[in-house]
Amino acid sequence: MREDALLSKANNELLTRVGSGTPMGELLRRFWVPGFLEDEVSEPDSPPIKLRLFGEDLVAFKDTDGRIGVIDNHCAHRQASLYFGRNEECGLRCVYHGWKFDVEGNCIDMPSEPNPSKTLMAKAKLKSYPAVARGGVVWLYMGPPEKEPQLPEFEWSRLPAVHRTATKRLQECNWAQAVEGGIDSSHISFLHGSTDKQLENRKKSGSNVPGNKFHALDRHPVFDVKEADHGLLISARRNAGDAQYYWRITQFLVPFYQMIPPVGNFENSGKSGYSGHAWVPIDDENTWTWTFHANPHQELTDEQREFHGGRTGMWGPTDENYRPVQNRDNNYRLDREAQRNDNFTGIQGIPNQDAAVQESMGPIVDRTKELLGHSDSAVIKFRQMMIGMAKDLNAGKEPIAARHGDWYNVRSASVVLDRELEWQESAAWLLRGDPLQKAAE
Ligand code: FES
Ligand SMILES: [Fe+2]
Repeated sequence: MREDALLSKANNELLTRVGSGTPMGELLRRFWVPGFLEDEVSEPDSPPIKLRLFGEDLVAFKDTDGRIGVIDNHCAHRQASLYFGRNEECGLRCVYHGWKFDVEGNCIDMPSEPNPSKTLMAKAKLKSYPAVARGGVVWLYMGPPEKEPQLPEFEWSRLPAVHRTATKRLQECNWAQAVEGGIDSSHISFLHGSTDKQLENRKKSGSNVPGNKFHALDRHPVFDVKEADHGLLISARRNAGDAQYYWRITQFLVPFYQMIPPVGNFENSGKSGYSGHAWVPIDDENTWTWTFHANPHQELTDEQREFHGGRTGMWGPTDENYRPVQNRDNNYRLDREAQRNDNFTGIQGIPNQDAAVQESMGPIVDRTKELLGHSDSAVIKFRQMMIGMAKDLNAGKEPIAARHGDWYNVRSASVVLDRELEWQESAAWLLRGDPLQKAAE
């Protein structure tokens, strides 16, 4: 066991708290972050949306000229919510007394005041954050203006819309807990797997056996976790016959991204699509779990688009607020009969299985009580890296990755290699994104 890697109470707080002024909150705000789906404010003058990120309540809207504004939810006058506002003629007008704000938060009309002075108008300026649409996502920068970073050059975000999807769902626990679930490759054989008896039952009933045979056949992967410019390069090795290994290679990219290969597509290495996640804190106890899918080699079919990006696809179903329909209020629709005969958990849907266990740990897991093993190597490195970076920033050292958008141009891969080959070198050609694909903004 890795007692040496256990977190103290203080470090657990440091890792998980993201409010303004906390070391981790400040670190995460040094990066552009996925804020909301472009579709949510698709038309000029369309209704504003509520947005909560890092514990701050905001509203987002697209003005008459097509500019996107992300401003404080509370009107400068007497703090009514601008969510109720009228989005008209290049600004959002509060419905209480009619004060109006532009996309930069400037107060441009104060009709309830007979003669508003310039000083009063200036005082009424609301907090606002820069927003950029790319890859179907509106990215926000919530850090100090003078430290504005580069946008991460994810390949999926630069592909034409026909090659990619983006979707999100609510996760009711702390962001770090969700990241840890994502980079933990060993749970796949269990949480998302089936027992031998269940596989037999399925075969007998003629239903497909989903997933990847290597994950089912070898449940004790050997991990190799290497530090990389962008964060971590994580490989999980499983046996694939006597002469070969199956490698599942994923990346963790600071501060909260992951790239994942599609399950079972290893035969197609270099031609298939891949996915990615971002876990963006709503506040300390809630997270947006983003999923991106892209195939740079071919356009997605309508079915693929719905499966990877729709609300009823693989990452759904979710309600109008992007809360999964299977959630903690209904035990994720756990079915004990299915747990006996169908899959390991009795819960349908990979993201629902993930959410069930991650949310069951409590909104912020008490990491001082854990017992960690070899299979937790990536989780341990992630914590050390993020805590180290938060402490560094607190001491005045800025995160370098925020200035290197190019470091984010990576793909994940799963591949079968002869046993004597070194994985990182042999798979290098699969792990790079296309540098030529220009952003279609
Ligand atoms: S509270 Fe918004 S105008 Fe008065
Ligand atoms: Fe999972």
